[in-house]
Amino acid sequence: MPSRERFLFVCTNRRSDDNPKGSCAARGSEDLLKEIKRELVARNLVGRFRACASTCLDACESGAAVLLEPDHVVLEGVTIADVAAIVDGLEQGEMSSMKRVSRPC
Ligand code: FES
Repeated sequence: MPSRERFLFVCTNRRSDDNPKGSCAARGSEDLLKEIKRELVARNLVGRFRACASTCLDACESGAAVLLEPDHVVLEGVTIADVAAIVDGLEQGEMSSMKRVSRPC
């Protein structure tokens, strides 16, 4: 298995529409994961970084949530509009360029 610099675990958990916790899938995380993967391919970064689906990351109230490893940081409220900044941050090794960096997990 190739060694990657970072992994992005995108929560794609989906709950029923009447569940008060909501879910990341209801906030567009399935399309978000596709867009992150598309951007990594477009920038020829798939050998350095890996994006994959995750179950609930316990940030449901502010999803879509993305866990960065090995940083142990959860990005909350991530949308497709944030993908370029996130991938910029991956390329530069500079997380401050990523919007919505929130809590260490
Ligand atoms: S549903 Fe995504 S963090 Fe809980």
